[in-house]
Amino acid sequence: MRYYLSPPHQSGRELIYLQEALESNYIAPLGPFVDRFEKEIKTYVGSNALALCSATAGLHLALRVLGIEESDKVAVSDFTFVASLNPILYQKATPVLIDCDETWQIDPNALEEALQKERPKAVIVTHIYGQSAKIDTIKELCDHYGSYLIEDAAEALGSKFLDRHTGTFGTFGVYSFNGNKLLTTGGGGVLVSSDEELLERARVLSAQAKDPKYPWYEHATYGYNYRLSNILAAIGVAQMEVIEERIAKKRQIFEWYQEELQEYATFMPQIPQSHGNRWLTTAIFDIDPLKIYHKLQTLGIETRPLWKPMHLQPLCKGLRWYGQGIGQELFARGLCLPSGTQMEQEDVAIVAKEIKRCL
Ligand SMILES: Cc1ncc(COP(=O)(O)O)c(C=O)c1O
Repeated sequence: MRYYLSPPHQSGRELIYLQEALESNYIAPLGPFVDRFEKEIKTYVGSNALALCSATAGLHLALRVLGIEESDKVAVSDFTFVASLNPILYQKATPVLIDCDETWQIDPNALEEALQKERPKAVIVTHIYGQSAKIDTIKELCDHYGSYLIEDAAEALGSKFLDRHTGTFGTFGVYSFNGNKLLTTGGGGVLVSSDEELLERARVLSAQAKDPKYPWYEHATYGYNYRLSNILAAIGVAQMEVIEERIAKKRQIFEWYQEELQEYATFMPQIPQSHGNRWLTTAIFDIDPLKIYHKLQTLGIETRPLWKPMHLQPLCKGLRWYGQGIGQELFARGLCLPSGTQMEQEDVAIVAKEIKRCL
């Protein structure tokens, strides 16, 4: 038996919808399943949705629509995956890196200092490992300093703060449907916004900026080929049918690990008034996590060090960074544990037993 971090988990209806998509001959980056997928996301999170080939594409479109360009700064979570930051570089703007605090989420105090000193035009906040950031405080700060808020909720579909979906607080939010996420289309993303007009601008840019007013190909600006295939959207529709089940299982897996390992590890906290999807169970240990990583690898159990903060990446050399160094402490001590929703209590017990042996 092998245990992966977060493998795809089919609902069982993927083949039915795929067959329907193929029979309709909409084998294209548009079609009834794309429309249905967008509608279902909209109903679920309560914000207008644009289906795309990735969440990274969504972040890029958000920056482009908001007019972020070469002379601009964009504050961004430091303790995150590089995809939160790459789109800033696509726009030739300058990232300003903001550390996390003891919640593992972006530190509002460090963000405020950066907002005062750097005056970034936008802020990209990651809801890390599927848990909600302190998004109300961050929204207030962005409003106060006049910066656009973009939420990288790639890992946090279905997570809530004060009963409102993460990804819907900012001007834009993104969710990922990459193969390792809570739900997958085999590669895909969704951009959401309550501002219909802004989202329509993103929609036009996602399809090579063809002006929809003309029957011919009319282009006032340059665009991208970022749309989601109807075939992949069919998989997305099948996956959306089991979203609540998947979140409940991820949260259950977290609880099983916590019961097994509470004396041996410190788990990622959940901030008050939030309800995260616990996409990955993550924890910090008192020994070098690479010892656990290598030992478990020999047993077919996949673990992964926590995100290496962006300010430690060669890519980010010379960029401004605000914080207290909490992200790097987490990186030095933490691991992501196998969190696939096919796992049962005895699987978690097997992984936990091997971790205890290492300790
Ligand atoms: C925090 C974060 N942001 C962005 C992305 C990018 O998503 P995608 O692979 O859909 O572009 C991911 C995952 O892949 C992620 O974990």
